[in-house]
Amino acid sequence: MSLQRFFGAIHKLKPMIRFDTVTKTYSGQSKSALDTINVEILRGEFVFLVGASGSGKSSFIRLILKEDRPTSGSIHVLGQDLLSISTGKLPFFRRNLGVVFQDFRLLPNKTVYENVAFTLRVIGKSRGYIQSAVPDTLKLVGLDGKDKRMPHELSGGEQQRVAIARAIVNKPQILLADEPTGNLDPMTSAGIMTLLERISTSGTTIVMATHEAGIVDQMQRRVIELSAGRIVRDERDAGYGGRTVNKPRVQLPDGSTPVAAPKVNADTMREAQPLYIEPEVTDAVTDAAAAISLAATGAVPRLPRPVELPSQSLVERLGLTGAGGPREGDDGQDVGPTR
Ligand SMILES: Nc1ncnc2c1ncn2[C@@H]1O[C@H](COP(=O)(O)OP(=O)(O)O)[C@@H](O)[C@H]1O
Ligand SMILES: [Mg+2]
Repeated sequence: MSLQRFFGAIHKLKPMIRFDTVTKTYSGQSKSALDTINVEILRGEFVFLVGASGSGKSSFIRLILKEDRPTSGSIHVLGQDLLSISTGKLPFFRRNLGVVFQDFRLLPNKTVYENVAFTLRVIGKSRGYIQSAVPDTLKLVGLDGKDKRMPHELSGGEQQRVAIARAIVNKPQILLADEPTGNLDPMTSAGIMTLLERISTSGTTIVMATHEAGIVDQMQRRVIELSAGRIVRDERDAGYGGRTVNKPRVQLPDGSTPVAAPKVNADTMREAQPLYIEPEVTDAVTDAAAAISLAATGAVPRLPRPVELPSQSLVERLGLTGAGGPREGDDGQDVGPTR
């Protein structure tokens, strides 16, 4: 392994999100929504946050976004103590985070293109940047040619792709997804998962809340399970033969574990076509994604095997290497009106 790779690998182990004894108790509630949460999520990890309805998944995501504050404990995101971020600085902080919800939350009266461009306009990106970034991102999510459609003219899966495009167009370092496949059928869900997997290839850290065991088993990524606000499982490469590093699994009275029936199974995942990627780079990108994920999610920090990215992968062609990095046409303008 070259020195460059060595330091690259170490860099990937940087914590992106850290909870230290975080408890969240909503006012007027006797039970805590989150109870003494200690967790660290590293750069490049793809983490599933699972648990029954009411177990605290959305609260966890809202705390990362600083949409809400913990009752006690501290949270660091991208190395910053959230308590130290003033309300005025909050919009700047949130630029590093992309968010996707179960109900898409698109602007109903704007076209696909405008929905994706909107965030960039708000943060003052130049017209040149927007004109290059929006079509690139729509292509990445498989919506090439749908830029003039209105949200109501799209299927649920397509609407979620728009929402994902909007979330990643500014190349956030962290993508948070709260039940993004909750309103979608199995095949469409599998397509969305394949898309999220590609996004994770670019180095984006992904935290996805879901209660769909089928998806989680299929993806074999880190799984953090919440039950009544506590972490009851934190398993790397979960799914087939996953390793438990934080026991024990919750058991229902009948001895089973509390997970929803699989909605997305192995066959559906196999059949879902990644619409947005040229076939010839698929294997290389997938292998790279797997290697990066392995490197970033090893339970015991260890050096990953070298990741051989294709010489010019789709990820590179779309300017997505290194989340948060500059893009062609990006003039570095951060604030100010759209020119
Ligand atoms: N704004 C709120 N006010 C009061 N209680 C809340 C609020 N949001 C969530 N809760 C409660 O906190 C617990 C966790 O909720 P939530 O984080 O939404 O779980 P999940 O996303 O896993 O369904 C639930 O008991 C829920 O009723
Ligand atoms: Mg929720």
